[in-house]
Amino acid sequence: MNVVILAAGMGKRMHSALPKVLHLLAGKALLAHVADTARTLAPNRLVVVYGHGGEAVPQAMAAPDLVFVKQEPQLGTGHAVTQALPFLDDSAPTLVLYGDVPLTATASLRRLLDSAGNDKLSVMTVGLDDPSGYGRIVRENGKLVRIVEQKDASESEKAIREVNTGIMVAPTAKLRQWLATLSNDNAQGEYYLTDIVARAVADGVAVASAQPDDVAETLGVNSKTQLAQLERLYQAKRAAALLEQGVALADPARFDVRGELVCGKDVSIDVNCVFEGKVVIEDGASIASHCVIKNAVIARSAQIKPFCHIEDAVIGAGSLIGPYARLRPGTQLAEDVHIGNFVEVKNARVAPHSKANHLAYIGDATIGSRVNIGAGTITCNYDGVNKFHTVIEDDAFIGSDSQLVAPVTVGKGATLGAGTTLTKNAPPDKLTISRTKQMTIENWQRPVKVKK
Ligand code: UD1
Ligand code: CA
Repeated sequence: MNVVILAAGMGKRMHSALPKVLHLLAGKALLAHVADTARTLAPNRLVVVYGHGGEAVPQAMAAPDLVFVKQEPQLGTGHAVTQALPFLDDSAPTLVLYGDVPLTATASLRRLLDSAGNDKLSVMTVGLDDPSGYGRIVRENGKLVRIVEQKDASESEKAIREVNTGIMVAPTAKLRQWLATLSNDNAQGEYYLTDIVARAVADGVAVASAQPDDVAETLGVNSKTQLAQLERLYQAKRAAALLEQGVALADPARFDVRGELVCGKDVSIDVNCVFEGKVVIEDGASIASHCVIKNAVIARSAQIKPFCHIEDAVIGAGSLIGPYARLRPGTQLAEDVHIGNFVEVKNARVAPHSKANHLAYIGDATIGSRVNIGAGTITCNYDGVNKFHTVIEDDAFIGSDSQLVAPVTVGKGATLGAGTTLTKNAPPDKLTISRTKQMTIENWQRPVKVKK
């Protein structure tokens, strides 16, 4: 089939310089949600009609399978679909979606497509307690005969509660003919896509309808308030699915996933955690409250304590992280590694059973097994121009408050005395220390306050 996504509207009520369809829901543009849903239907043409916001939409959304067509000026939904016609394949039906309606499910779209087959027009409709603002579905003897917009509706038509969601599917060759006959002689002076329903009836083409599984699937975003509401609906769904799968979410209302979250068995997640990109949490791992985790693997039985920030990192099985740890891109921790409070790790591999429990910076480093890194240790990896690597071999012990000026290697089993500034390699199995000798000044007296 062909899919046309309407995304030219300006979204005035968003009060934003960003085109409405580029606003994010669960970390992804509204339009990207719609395009991804369309992709699940494997369309042979996928056309986006854009307009407001200049080239921002095609720039942000560029993909090999998307065709962008500019609609300028925006003269209505019928006019918008007309712009896409040159790119549509007549041998297959055309499905129209809205770029600002992000939660439509594939199953509901399939039902709509099935109701239309190859030769019918079909409209996705819903019954609403408050239908105001929507186009009303006018039926005669149960048959859908036309759609009337709110602004054009009579009092009795306004009382109709079945409304047009905007999503519809039409046989493409017929769609071309019908669109060519549209007029803008209506209350809004627009070319209404909805008028093709009456055209189909006049043409003797059957008009069907289908309903979504959930009304939320047809909700559009016109304001930040609606965007926030849809965000919560989306998150509630994701949370419910995880709970159903056995993940112990402390509070499904205080949980956000902006991407893909894969959880094993007996995973627990405390309140106010945010997951971005692709995150895998293996069996028995636990995430305490207030963690932000992006593109990471948390292996079996690892414990992430509160307030950790983890990005592009791998946390080995049984490791203990935090509270207040920051693991930056390129962090690869093997099993049973302990990274404690106020420790920052970047582009570093840490082998099993090593520990950095307090206040340290480990950047551009390779750390062996059973290494102990004392409080306040810093790898000085940057000379202001270039970055250099630090190697700490197995069983080394780094005394507190040491600076390792890279490039430098601490040999296997070496010990650094506290406060060492290491500028040359430390040999294995020896104590290396760089400190001025401690001395005590005899007969020294504290200064006393001078009387004036
Ligand atoms: C439209 C429908 C209405 C339906 C409602 C559902 C028409 C005439 N009316 O009304 O029956 O109940 O949606 O939300 O179709 N757009 C363009 N170019 C344009 C105009 C609109 O791309 O020239 C896009 C918008 O960006 C939006 C969608 O089409 O994604 C719908 O436009 P909108 O102005 O919200 O339509 P409504 O008046 O709400
Ligand atoms: Ca609308």
